[in-house]
Amino acid sequence: MDEREARKLIVEIGRLMYDKGYVTSSDGNISYRLGENLILATPTQVSKGRMTEDIMALTDLDGKPLNDKRVSSEIQMHLLIYRMRPDVNAVCHAHVPHGTAFAAAGLSIDAPILSEVILTLGCVPLTAYGTPSTPELTDALKPYVEHHNALLMENHGVVAYGKDLWQAFDRLETLEHTAKIAILARSLGGANDLPKDAIEKLINIREKAGYLTESARCQACGYLQETGISCGSDKHLNSEFQNANSNGSSAKISLTREELIELLSQAANNRS
Ligand code: 13P
Repeated sequence: MDEREARKLIVEIGRLMYDKGYVTSSDGNISYRLGENLILATPTQVSKGRMTEDIMALTDLDGKPLNDKRVSSEIQMHLLIYRMRPDVNAVCHAHVPHGTAFAAAGLSIDAPILSEVILTLGCVPLTAYGTPSTPELTDALKPYVEHHNALLMENHGVVAYGKDLWQAFDRLETLEHTAKIAILARSLGGANDLPKDAIEKLINIREKAGYLTESARCQACGYLQETGISCGSDKHLNSEFQNANSNGSSAKISLTREELIELLSQAANNRS
């Protein structure tokens, strides 16, 4: 895609993000890899619903400005992804309400409840909080970028990426749709997980159909571990995921309010 088309598409996707309520005010940013060392990105502090093609900033892969526009304050997050993923040419960051609700609640989007999501996106892990626009944020994302196509940033928002601008946007849309369904299902009493054999079949289909590569078997998903078809190599799994799945003191678990009350009352009964 040439620069003229990319500018046009960034404006179109920005408007879609704004119209769908994925961003408000001047939230969010979008970028596209125009060449080996050339990135086109939205400028800082503009509404993504009211952009024009002439306002885009150009930088190199280190973030050095290549025109007179002030690039997004989150450019380093985009550049980290481009540096780590040669297959990625577009990045969309937004504060989608349902996805960001997961991120604010300290939850990943990783339950195997929707066949289509296992096929096309995989798991969306929660990355630790880091101050926006600082290395804290990029350091927190680093362990997850290689094997995932979208990430939740704790108490902040989400980022999705792909081979082109539409794929990055589609992944953002799938993430938000999934988060919304998961929240709705919870209000109906909770979603049912797909059984192990169904997950295995979906993973085989997604690789054959080319939705996701085998690299996605290394994602930080509890259900991959349970099926035994994860990539299997410890070196692929980031340390936070290993901690979360180990018996170490830093392991995180989540309980419903009722489960917590039940546990506490059992503990109280045992003491008396
Ligand atoms: P910019 O306006 O600098 O792109 O920042 C928007 C944003 O969403 C920060 O998280």
